[in-house]
Amino acid sequence: MTLKRLLIQNLRNLDRVDLTPSDRVNLIYGENGSGKTSILEAINLLALGRSFRTHKHKPLIKHQQQSLTVFGRVHADDGSDIPIGISRGLDGDASFKVNGVVVASAADLAGYLPVQVINSDTFLLLEGSPKVRRQFIDWLVFHVEPNFFPAWKAIQRCLKHRNSLLRRDRIDPFELATWDKELIGLTDTIHEFRTQCMAQFQETFVELLKELINIDGIALSYYRGWDKDKNYADVLSASFERDKRQGFTHLGSQRADLKITVNGLDAAEVLSRGQQKLLVCALKIAQGYVFTRLTGRKSIYLVDDLPAELDENHRGLLVHWLYTMGTQVFITGVESETLASSWRKKAEITPKMFHVEQGRVTEVS
Ligand SMILES: Nc1ncnc2c1ncn2[C@@H]1O[C@H](COP(=O)(O)OP(=O)(O)OP(=O)(O)O)[C@@H](O)[C@H]1O
Ligand SMILES: [Mg+2]
Repeated sequence: MTLKRLLIQNLRNLDRVDLTPSDRVNLIYGENGSGKTSILEAINLLALGRSFRTHKHKPLIKHQQQSLTVFGRVHADDGSDIPIGISRGLDGDASFKVNGVVVASAADLAGYLPVQVINSDTFLLLEGSPKVRRQFIDWLVFHVEPNFFPAWKAIQRCLKHRNSLLRRDRIDPFELATWDKELIGLTDTIHEFRTQCMAQFQETFVELLKELINIDGIALSYYRGWDKDKNYADVLSASFERDKRQGFTHLGSQRADLKITVNGLDAAEVLSRGQQKLLVCALKIAQGYVFTRLTGRKSIYLVDDLPAELDENHRGLLVHWLYTMGTQVFITGVESETLASSWRKKAEITPKMFHVEQGRVTEVS
């Protein structure tokens, strides 16, 4: 899966950018505020229909413009080329197109261009709420298991109904039993999908980690959202009174998490900033490896400001992993030399270099 062509119009300070990226390594450099992150943001928009910086669309649209457009030609792993386009207007209008056909929502885009983002927010995998880690787990499950997304959507709906029922003064036991039955079935399905993916993930992660950080005692464990020794139906009935009192369902797959510890302590509280950066990079890289192993497809990596907080040696290691994966990568940084030097040892790779100046992008040979 590679992006062969990228056209961006009116996104932040980029008014018209037309890139033909390398199918391997693309290095994007330029001064602060020149527009580097915005290029990655455009790719993310194409992949998921949203930015990694904001959930709002207005800040993305260039000042004084009415709408933004991003178009990409994706070379799929089966050899076919797929045009994908997205546009967003100030009035809230959104349009998503695949192969020239309008698709209903951003979720319909998500399977075409799997991307992994490594940026300063990646730290949230350690420091952030369980939601961040759940999304991390579910990225893999979504791409690996086609039945996951319908089950995930169904469970959101089911929880919404059950929670609104819990808030009523009088709860019809028959109605509650109906939602509980559906919830139990869906919870088991989702848990099963996640367990299978996480087992594969853990194996790869442990191997990668040994190479990257030499710290003993790092462990990763998947928490399903309720006590693993208990059956979900029993958990649900046992927590009914509390659920009713507080008006929502406390336990279940909506509470799943990934616990990342060092000798039993929270990794975010033990590791140095640099070590944390390496750990989250390892998580992201491991996900790409497992994705490729399970699907035969490759995910694109967007790495924003690679040099920040990593020393030269560890930058080299990260580059080595990206290289070994053989995926397409887009890496930004302020200085071209710092970006390019890590790739010099990979003789057969000639990165494409792009220079960004005040929203204009030129390819540099
Ligand atoms: N809606 C908008 N319209 C026009 N310009 C915008 C808009 N939103 C942000 N900008 C500007 O776009 C520029 C590009 O920002 P971007 O974050 O892509 O820069 P960058 O090259 O990644 O910088 P840094 O090295 O500091 O991370 C910034 O100067 C920012 O002020
Ligand atoms: Mg930036």
